[in-house]
Amino acid sequence: MNGYMNNTPPVAILGALDAEMRLLEDAIEGLDYSETGHFRFSAGTIDGVPVVLVRTGMGMANAAAACVMTIERFNPNCVILQGTAGAHVPDLHIGDIVISNMAMPTHFVSTPSRPAGAGSNALEWTYLSPTTFLDDNNTHAAEGIPATIRLLNIAQDVPYAEGNLVTGIVGSGDIWNRELDRINNVHDALGTLCEDMESYSIAQVCQECTVPWLSVRIISNSEFHPEEELDFTTANTCQEFIRALLTRL
Ligand code: 5AD
Repeated sequence: MNGYMNNTPPVAILGALDAEMRLLEDAIEGLDYSETGHFRFSAGTIDGVPVVLVRTGMGMANAAAACVMTIERFNPNCVILQGTAGAHVPDLHIGDIVISNMAMPTHFVSTPSRPAGAGSNALEWTYLSPTTFLDDNNTHAAEGIPATIRLLNIAQDVPYAEGNLVTGIVGSGDIWNRELDRINNVHDALGTLCEDMESYSIAQVCQECTVPWLSVRIISNSEFHPEEELDFTTANTCQEFIRALLTRL
């Protein structure tokens, strides 16, 4: 009988793409499977640990919607988001893993006013957060959401031989940045080590629902190094790391 049916709260492991979930899905025992739209929920155990694996689809809205459903249906004791990311600093390489101490929104922006024909310059955009304009003070800078320290500490101690294991800020938005000036601009403004399209929305939902959360992202591409083109096989390495993390939670 799996953990869900046993009423033991599972660890929820979320990932956007098939490539980011398949290895874990193959490892599950006592599978109790369900779907809502394109969201896939696989409850069971991995190495004896009750889990629910959720394939969310890509992007912020998908991740948030799937995270809410997961929390309401499975009452997980924590949410771990995992998958691939692009580097925001030159000293991170494909295969390195970033454990989030914080998630930051990278596409919550406002542009300066420009007349027709004056073009567009993303380097002049201002970074905001969902907290901006919430009260009368409209001068908020972008604000991150801290990850759960207990989970962060456990993840930092998982042995990892495929690259460097670092801790830092994960930036998220419905945008894939490939312009180096833009990447440097986001990094300078928000302190991000890497970018994905889901972490911040998971952080928002978990903060609202008071569920512990962590994001673990493996670098799959870096614009700083032309030879480091997108490699989604890194998603397998990340899932192996998550499996090792699971038994320590
Ligand atoms: N920028 C944005 N998202 C990225 N992903 C991997 N690399 C990047 C990048 N450089 C992740 C996202 C999304 C999928 C396309 O891969 O989280 O789910």
